[in-house]
Amino acid sequence: MKILALETSCDETACAIVQDGRKVLANIIRSQADFHQQYGGVIPEFASRQHIEAVNYTVQEALSQADLSLESIDAIAATVGPGLVGALLIGATTAKTLSWAMQKPFLAVNHLYGHIAANYLDTDLSPPFLCLLVSGGHTQLVHIKAYDDIVCYGQTRDDAVGEAYDKIARVLGLGYPGGPKLDKLAQTGDPKRYTLPQGKTDTPWDFSFSGLKTATMRLIEKENALIDDAKKADIAAAFQATIAETLLKKTVKLAETLEVTTLSLAGGVAANSAIRAKLADIKHTHPEWTIVLPPLAYCTDNAAMIASSAFFNPISSDLGQEVFSRSPVPLGV
Ligand code: KG4
Ligand code: ZN
Repeated sequence: MKILALETSCDETACAIVQDGRKVLANIIRSQADFHQQYGGVIPEFASRQHIEAVNYTVQEALSQADLSLESIDAIAATVGPGLVGALLIGATTAKTLSWAMQKPFLAVNHLYGHIAANYLDTDLSPPFLCLLVSGGHTQLVHIKAYDDIVCYGQTRDDAVGEAYDKIARVLGLGYPGGPKLDKLAQTGDPKRYTLPQGKTDTPWDFSFSGLKTATMRLIEKENALIDDAKKADIAAAFQATIAETLLKKTVKLAETLEVTTLSLAGGVAANSAIRAKLADIKHTHPEWTIVLPPLAYCTDNAAMIASSAFFNPISSDLGQEVFSRSPVPLGV
């Protein structure tokens, strides 16, 4: 089954074609990051306008990359949320129109389920597994019991990890999008020079990053780090190490509690070097566990993951399905 999917939830206009949820036949991503960079973040109305300009081209490019015609596609999918409503509307309306015109089924996808499904691309991974979902808008610990039985055990009480990264990167003057730049800087610093607080929550599987964010900003100010490159790098390294430690400690504990032996990562922040290294390190303490690290190209927003999720776990096949701005993976406990 060949699914053509569109992803326009934020600032990437993406179209992909994936066979049977795993084999990527085409993967086109047109990022608007260079455009939004001048404003220090995504301007929703500009994002929507750029999606309108790019969306038809990405469909054509995907078909040409896969060397397929629209007639040979079996279903059309799109992200319907969570995300920027105006931006989502462009991809979802394009997909619905193609579906209606071509008389092919329409499959609506939750963006977060899409991030999780990135783990199925070019692999033979199957549930059950535990997924640490870390993106610009969400931080969740999700148990994929079966393809269509997904339960969230914990989430951030305040900032998402990507949000905290982007904020600290901005304060350090690294620009937008800040996550990858802060990651790079952190790799040049000493993570032990400074100690930053790990966020505490009164629930076992939730996270909190706003305290760490504030403490890091205070440290930057106190140390006058903006005019000292070595201090900047050391603070970035401490921030990165604290986040990786906080995330992985709870992930491992939950896996042990649920007796799940396969762990994976998802979301844009899954590209982070410290989080990936720490997850891979788990092999030393738990050699019998399977650790799945999705390729970097499938971690940040793309449409291949949406096509995969449409195959394994569409949330609706109703052309009347509305787009929605906010809705995490439903809490199951
Ligand atoms: O999943 P994603 O592409 O978009 C959302 O659904 O939110 O994630 C984007 C987020 C941004 O906050 C970006 O700064 C962060 O992922 N990010 C990173 C890295 N690469 C992307 N954060 C830390 N380290 C990275 N290497
Ligand atoms: Zn995303």
